[in-house]
This record gives sequence, C-alpha cells and structure tokens, in this order.
Amino acid sequence: MVRASIFAVLATVSTVFAASGQNCSLTQLCPSDTPCCSQYGQCGVGAYCLGGCDPRMSFGLDSCVAAPVCESKTYDFKNLDRVTSNTKYLGDSSETDWVSDGDPQIYNDNLLLTMAPDSVGTLLASSTYMWYGNVKATFKTSRGQGVVTAFILLSDVKDEIDYEFIGVDLDVAQTNYYFQGIPTYSHGANISLSDTFNNYHTYEIDWTPDQITWKVNDEIGRTLKRADTWNATTNQWMYPQTPARVQLSLWPGGLASNGQGTIDWAGGLVDWNAADIKNNGYYYATFQSVTVDCFNATSAPGTNDETSYTYNSVAGTNDTVVDGKNSTIIKSLIGTGTDPDAGASSASGSSSSAPSATAETVPGRSGGESSGSDNHAGDSGSSSQTASTATIATDASGSTSTGSSDGQFSQGGSGSSSSSSSSSSKSGAEKLGASQEKVLKGSVFAGIIAVVAMMAL
Ligand SMILES: *[C@@H]1O[C@H](CO)[C@@H](O)[C@H](O)[C@H]1NC(C)=O
Ligand SMILES: *[C@@H]1O[C@H](CO)[C@@H](O)[C@H](O)[C@H]1NC(C)=O
Ligand SMILES: *[C@@H]1O[C@H](CO)[C@@H](O)[C@H](O)[C@H]1NC(C)=O
Ligand SMILES: *[C@@H]1O[C@H](CO)[C@@H](O)[C@H](O)[C@H]1NC(C)=O
Ligand SMILES: *[C@@H]1O[C@H](CO)[C@@H](O)[C@H](O)[C@H]1NC(C)=O
Ligand SMILES: *[C@@H]1O[C@H](CO)[C@@H](O)[C@H](O)[C@H]1NC(C)=O
Repeated sequence: MVRASIFAVLATVSTVFAASGQNCSLTQLCPSDTPCCSQYGQCGVGAYCLGGCDPRMSFGLDSCVAAPVCESKTYDFKNLDRVTSNTKYLGDSSETDWVSDGDPQIYNDNLLLTMAPDSVGTLLASSTYMWYGNVKATFKTSRGQGVVTAFILLSDVKDEIDYEFIGVDLDVAQTNYYFQGIPTYSHGANISLSDTFNNYHTYEIDWTPDQITWKVNDEIGRTLKRADTWNATTNQWMYPQTPARVQLSLWPGGLASNGQGTIDWAGGLVDWNAADIKNNGYYYATFQSVTVDCFNATSAPGTNDETSYTYNSVAGTNDTVVDGKNSTIIKSLIGTGTDPDAGASSASGSSSSAPSATAETVPGRSGGESSGSDNHAGDSGSSSQTASTATIATDASGSTSTGSSDGQFSQGGSGSSSSSSSSSSKSGAEKLGASQEKVLKGSVFAGIIAVVAMMAL
C-alpha cells in the first residue's frame, strides 16, 4: 500500500523533472555535490555511495561508504525478510543479506528472479563482500533468446568472476573474469552441462590469491592461475583481487537499446510474447541457495577481521584494500561516505538538506549493464575472440526438479488488477516492479526519492 503510493508519486515526479546524472570514469571523477560513482558509471549520493560505488571514479577515495566485510553463511530463500530494495537499503548488513533491484519473488521456498515485459529484470547483490573465498549457488537458469542469467562476483573497482547463461544455449555455462573491468575478449571459457533450465546444478567459484576454480556439481570445469595473468605492458597481474559482492541476476541482453555485440552474444532480441511471459507474466530463474565461505586469511590480502573494507589508493589492487573499522551505514539516501548523517530525520520526516535537491540517490540500470564489465566483442569495435573450452561430463544428478518442463507455476493472476501497463497476466506487484524500473532507469529526482524512501522505512 505504501509502495503503491510511493510509486504513484515517483511516476508523476519522473514525468515532470528530467534531471540527468553526470557520467563518471577514471578520467572524469564525480563532482563534490554528487561525489559517488555508481557501478553503472553515474554520479549521485545515497545508494550511489553504497555497494558498487567505485572509489577510483568518485570525488574522493572516502566518498564511497565502506563495504561490510565477508561473512560465512548459507542463504536459502524461504522468504524475502532479509532482502531489501536498493531504494531502502542504507548499508546495515546485520539486517540485510541481499540488496535487490527489480522484482524478486519467493515460490516454493526458492527465490525467483523475474523479468517482466518492459523491465530490465532483477538483480540481487550480497550486502557483504568476499575478499577471496568460496561461493556456491544452486539454481536453474531462465531460457529464451536474449535472456541472460548470471551468477557473478563483482568488486567495486570492477574485478569480476562470472558464470553467465544464455537462454538459447541451455547446455553451456559461460565463465569469464575481468581485472578492473578492462574489456578483454579472450578470457571466456565454456563448461558443458545438462539443460540448465530444467536441472538444478551447483555452480561454485573457488577464489584464492593464486587461483580461481570454477566447479559445477563438484567437478572442476575451469582453472585460472594468477601466474598466467601477468600483463607485461602494465606490469600488473590482470587477476581479480579485491573484495567483491555476490550478484545474482536475470537481465535482457537482447534489448534493442543494447550494443549489437551484446545482443548477438545474448542470442538475439528478447521475445516478450514467449510462453514464459504468457504463462507467468515474466521470465524467471530459480535460486535454491547460496553459500559463502570466507577466505579468513590471517594477514592481508583476504582478511575479514574488522568490520569494513575501504581503499587507500586509486590503484585498486589487493594491496590497497584496508580491512578496517569505518562505518558502512548512512542515515538516509542523501548520505555519502564523507557525510553519512546527511538527511537524518532528527526533528521530523521533513527533508532538511538542500544538497538533495538535484542529486540522484538510487542508481538505475539499463538493459546491457546488469553485470559489471559485460562488454562483448562488437559493442565497440572488433576484437578477436580466442578462448578455450573446458568440458566436463555432467550426469543429471543435479536435477531435483519434478520433471515438468514448463509452466510449473503461475503466480500472476491473484486478482490484483492494477490500472497501468500491459494486458499480460502480471500481478500488481510485478507491474509496480516494472514501473519502478522505468522510473529508476530514467533520471530520478532525488530529493523526492530520499523523502519517500525515508517515509517507507
Ligand atoms: C553519459 O553517457 C551516456 C552514454 O555514453 C550518454 O548517452 C549521455 O549523454 C552521457 N551523459 C552526460 C550527462 O554526459
Ligand atoms: C576510514 O576512516 C578513517 C578514520 O576515520 C578516515 O581517516 C578514512 O578517510 C576513512 N577511509 C575511507 C576510505 O573512508
Ligand atoms: C561458448 O558457447 C557459446 C554458445 O554455445 C559460443 O557462442 C561461444 O563462442 C563459446 N565461447 C567460448 C569461449 O568457447
Ligand atoms: C597484490 O598487489 C600487488 C601490487 O599490484 C602485487 O605485487 C601482488 O602480487 C598482489 N598480490 C596478490 C596476491 O594478488
Ligand atoms: C594489458 O593491459 C592493457 C591496459 O589495460 C590492455 O589494454 C591490454 O589488453 C592488456 N594485455 C593483455 C595481454 O591482457
Ligand atoms: C571462515 O570462518 C568461518 C567462521 O568462523 C567458518 O565458518 C568458515 O568455515 C571459515 N572458512 C574457511 C575457508 O576456513
């Protein structure tokens, strides 16, 4: 109910204002009034300064809010109690395991990442960061051309370790890695396995300072040694080495607005009239559980002794990560690393702070950006794709499904007939989710969001 009114307000607001966030990069840092560079390369405050905030591209190294250290834990998805929308999350990982963007749903004690028509899908990011360690996720992917399911580790300086699944290649898990988001088209490798839509498989990333192992159902699918990643030009290891969030996502690689390379990679444009849309109102990927086992190093790199990770240099390498005591929490969605108390409602709910008037507070995604450095050959100039293929024989032992191959559920028509949007069988909540995406995707007028988000807390 609160939600409905919030989004009604936002929808109205967004049509009135057309604020435009500034872009940020290594060569164009954010300005002081919107100091935080989001995962998507735009400047803002609030959620822009939380998970994904890139200290190298922000106004200062201390603009981003510190990142909660690793916690060893198994997450099952019996409810959404510890999943918090990125429009409400303020950095307290003791109360939130996952920060969501989009429309996560629970179905039969599993988490569904959903992607309804006109949405950019759903993304869940862990509230805590892994600095090396082991993470495994048991899930079934979505399907269909242009539909991408992903399970990745992504650091704030854009080190990345990936599993990605294209909805038309259901017998392949694509693996990849990036160092600081530098687009290299030669780091991919495939793992063959049985139908990822119909079978649960357990996908594992075992990450140490010297080696990354991708395992599916306990079998090694790929190994990468740091020793093999030396870049003689830059004199650096092009190897993921900084604290990273676990990200689970379902996103439309096949959106017309994406780069042609991404669309081709994703198997073509998304069909918004596919059977899954007709039957359920959305595409979906089904996550059963995620287990994080921290690396627990006794000395850096890879410790989780204190409360938070920050960086002490724009180099963004493992030796610039500080495992310290800086606070991870802001008081409102206009807070920043250097002004965490901004907007604190000391008197009443009135929005006191002037700086919020034009700042964006919740970063939005567009279709092609759901996983950090997801560049694809062909998006911007050409690149030769030289990569290896690792194959493991996988019996269907991962399968715990009951056999039916489609339409195993329908959640849509629960009687909530919301006024707006399309004629598909989406529930009211789903439609809200979709319109939320549209609002956040466009430029959002921050002060309103901040106030509204505080009201909703
Ligand atoms: C930011 O970058 C996007 C994509 O390159 C571009 O379309 C947009 O105009 C840029 N915005 C600003 C404010 O420079
Ligand atoms: C962490 O806290 C210390 C002590 O308050 C401060 O000097 C430092 O700038 C903070 N670091 C970051 C990256 O915020
Ligand atoms: C992985 O598989 C996909 C689809 O099956 C294919 O297009 C791609 O070229 C393969 N990548 C590698 C690195 O072999
Ligand atoms: C950490 O970074 C430094 C500086 O780039 C490098 O010399 C060292 O090998 C790195 N160590 C690991 C474990 O990646
Ligand atoms: C080395 O680093 C440069 C600069 O980031 C990059 O352009 C190049 O592709 C890298 N070389 C290799 C072999 O990865
Ligand atoms: C790290 O410590 C946690 C908490 O004590 C423990 O549960 C976990 O098994 C440890 N992980 C490793 C790899 O030692």
